[in-house]
Amino acid sequence: MQKKKITIFDTTLRDGEQSPGFSMNHEEKIKMAKQLEALGVDIIEAGFPISSEGDYLAAKEISRIIKKCAVAALARSKKEDIDRAWEAVKDAKSPIIHTFIATSDVHMKYKLRKTRTQVLNDTITAVKYAKMLTDNVEFSAEDATRSDINFVCEVFEAAIEAGAKTVNFPDTVGYAMPYEFGEMIKTIMEKVKNIDNAVLSVHCHDDLGLAVANSIVAILNGAGQIECTINGIGERAGNASLEEIVMGIRTRKDIFKDFYTSVVTEQIYKTSRLLSNVTGMHIQRNKAIVGENAFAHEAGIHQDGVLKESLTYEIMTPQSVGIKHSTLVLGKHSGRHALSNRYKELGYELSDKELDKVYKLFTQLADVKKEIFDDDLIAIVNDELSDIPKKYEFKRLQITSGTKIIPMATVELAIGEERLRDSGTGDGPVDAVYQVIEKITKMEGELVDYSIKSVTTGKDAVGEVVLRVIFEGRQFVGRGASTDVIIASAKAYLDAVNRAIYSKTKVQELKSSKNEE
Ligand code: KIV
Ligand code: ZN
Repeated sequence: MQKKKITIFDTTLRDGEQSPGFSMNHEEKIKMAKQLEALGVDIIEAGFPISSEGDYLAAKEISRIIKKCAVAALARSKKEDIDRAWEAVKDAKSPIIHTFIATSDVHMKYKLRKTRTQVLNDTITAVKYAKMLTDNVEFSAEDATRSDINFVCEVFEAAIEAGAKTVNFPDTVGYAMPYEFGEMIKTIMEKVKNIDNAVLSVHCHDDLGLAVANSIVAILNGAGQIECTINGIGERAGNASLEEIVMGIRTRKDIFKDFYTSVVTEQIYKTSRLLSNVTGMHIQRNKAIVGENAFAHEAGIHQDGVLKESLTYEIMTPQSVGIKHSTLVLGKHSGRHALSNRYKELGYELSDKELDKVYKLFTQLADVKKEIFDDDLIAIVNDELSDIPKKYEFKRLQITSGTKIIPMATVELAIGEERLRDSGTGDGPVDAVYQVIEKITKMEGELVDYSIKSVTTGKDAVGEVVLRVIFEGRQFVGRGASTDVIIASAKAYLDAVNRAIYSKTKVQELKSSKNEE
């Protein structure tokens, strides 16, 4: 029997990005989209273009750049939404308009204030209209799991009749239990007369921690497409995690012998790390597949077993998700070549210029730290090679702090050759540094999140600060690393300042190029 391909529809850049703490700027979205392409997902949902100019512009550029995946944009079942979505994705090699309307009584009564007949008519009108623009239309019945299943079947049949190639059954509020979700999928497969003319998709949220379980059950009951996100990010508790579903299918070949996905699983770890780097959101240590502990065996009895035969406690290899076992520790005497090789293994292709810069920092770090681990190297790259042009460069700082004295900081920054220096006080040494950076850059921000972690072990470890700051109503992530935590804090804040400045210029550039078109 021929195996059935499960289409992987990634919505990290739409459902994931719209959730608090996970917003990305334009460049970050492009970077993520390119990595999703390398990961081998089939469809990238690039945004909800009517919701913001940023979503529209990012979806438009992703559509132009991405060649191997289809690109989808979300639209309510309204003409203006559909027009905007089409405008955003029309240049894609394979564009998709994804239109939706709620079908549950509670949504129809309180949110839409529409009857079932009106919702059915809106569905048909929206799908027919989208179909005039592109052949590839997906229709979603929002809050499907709390809807009357007979009504969903009626709506799906009408949507397919109107031209939808995919009908999506979302568990919008993460309410369904796996056994009943499976039954619902089965009912749709049996009752929707024209279901063979479309792909049945599912889109599960994780409010009860069952998004992956529900998605998996759906495959076994006939679903052909799974909507999911990297690291499971998404509204509230998140969406179904892509890496968990894909590795479930790969690992349990006995159950999923008739199915496959096109995901290059060896790219999973890199994609997961990239997302966590750009959003500044750490992945919980024990997160399945990509958490730091996912392949770490701590208990003696487990270590002993794994050493004798990895199958004893490992159901999949770290290599299969792209984690390279690093026994190699670099130090003071390691050369440029060893460093460059290690970066290659970690997935970073550095240009000669980038390697020069990183090597300089590596030797400085090696002077204060005996052994340098992979996470130190990643921290150096993230800190120094962020791909946004930096208006301000951190030069140095001096701090006076202690008990019974007012913390005071002097900070020196640079714009090219020009040096800018100022001093000030604050509630603590970090606050004093931030006050001075604000004074110099004239960028007033509200710090909404600050975290510090040591990227490796030992007293001489590199500390990495990741923070989020709001400038003019928009949130920016900043990161900085150093063996000195105050310097790491200063670098992180300045990184957020530089990102805010760059984003403002970039949006203006994109707007003026759009006006010229
Ligand atoms: O959760 C949901 O219902 C959605 C739809 C727009 C597909 O995100
Ligand atoms: Zn959703």
